[in-house]
Formats: sequence, C-alpha cells, structure tokens
Amino acid sequence: MPVTTNKANEPESPPLEAFWQRVAKRPGYYLKRLPSWGLLKCSPLFRHTACRLQAAMDIDPAGWSYRPDFASAVGGFFLPGDPVARRIAPFPSWDLVRRDALILLLRSVVKRNVPGDLAELGVYQGVTARLFHEYCPDRTLLLFDTFTGFDTRDTTSREGRLGMFADTSAAAVLRLCRRW
Ligand SMILES: C[S@@+](CC[C@H](N)C(=O)[O-])C[C@H]1O[C@@H](n2cnc3c(N)ncnc32)[C@H](O)[C@@H]1O
Repeated sequence: MPVTTNKANEPESPPLEAFWQRVAKRPGYYLKRLPSWGLLKCSPLFRHTACRLQAAMDIDPAGWSYRPDFASAVGGFFLPGDPVARRIAPFPSWDLVRRDALILLLRSVVKRNVPGDLAELGVYQGVTARLFHEYCPDRTLLLFDTFTGFDTRDTTSREGRLGMFADTSAAAVLRLCRRW
C-alpha cells in the first residue's frame, strides 16, 4: 500500500522513521522524558502490585519535584516557628504517599492546636507509631493491638489472615519508638 501524503508531491515518512527524525531534531527533549516513558511502559508489569511506583510531594526534600522556595514559604512538613523539635521517622520507600498523608494530618492537628493524646488502633511493628511519636513527641501516644496478630474470632471469613501480623510484640514496638 502506498504511503499517504498530506502535501501532493511529498511522500510521508513511515512512522518509525518520522519518530527518529523528531528525536534527532530535539534529542534533549526526548532524553529528559526517557525515565518517565520507561516507567509508563513498565507499569503494566506492576498492575497487580500496590505501592510500587510512587510520587513524592514537592515539599519532600527527597522528592525529584522538591521546590525549596515553596517548602520554606509554607514550612513544608513542619510549621514555621514551631517550638517543638519534630522529626520524620524512617518509613518504607514504597509507602511514602501514606507517610506524607499522615504527616500532613499531624501537621494540621498541630497547626489547629487540636488538644489531646494520639491513639493508633492496629500498630503491627510500630512503623506508623514511631512516625506519630517522632512528629509529636510532646503528646501521649496510646497504642492498641493484640500484638499477636489477628484474633481467631476475626479470621473466620478470610482464613488466609490467620497468623498475619503475629511477628511483633509490644516490647519491640516500644523499643522502636524509643530509639531517638
Ligand atoms: C495493617 S496492620 C497495622 C499497621 C500499622 N498501622 C502500620 O501502618 O505500620 C493491622 C494491625 O491490626 C491488628 N488488629 C487486627 N484486628 C485486631 C483486633 N481485633 N484487636 C486488636 N488489634 C487488631 C493486627 O494485629 C495488626 O497488627
């Protein structure tokens, strides 16, 4: 089949050739897009897996879209002039969106002067408990869990859950939270 043409006498290049011609004209433009294009092409591989390809906020100093001017103007994860020494505890790299959502909720509690203690229902190994404690070291943190995994009474409808979250203990969580 002949290649169609827009202009009467100029044959149109086949798509691949046309693509390479565009790349040759603006190599920098295409080079910059290579990582995100690669991730996009790989994403179907991870479609059954949660929390693998994640973004980071522009107030996260570790994120590629970090904007220091904006972060310093609004305080970023912290409040400007806050007298309490707050820290952001280490968190699994594949779970940063959840971490950032939790930090912003805590920041909002501090900013609005919401009084009271903090409580977490479902602690497991204490990763989020440590985040709460290091961000709000001035508040009592109450932690509720069986610390032995799911109770058998809660596993009747989903047998696969039996034994889940059992690899923890209250002492191990306390050790983790007291580390700083
Ligand atoms: C998904 S984990 C919590 C993870 C934790 N919030 C974090 O982000 O690191 C769920 C926890 O809920 C606890 N849990 C489930 N059913 C419970 C119940 N009926 N009473 C107390 N704890 C329970 C489990 O033992 C488990 O540690």
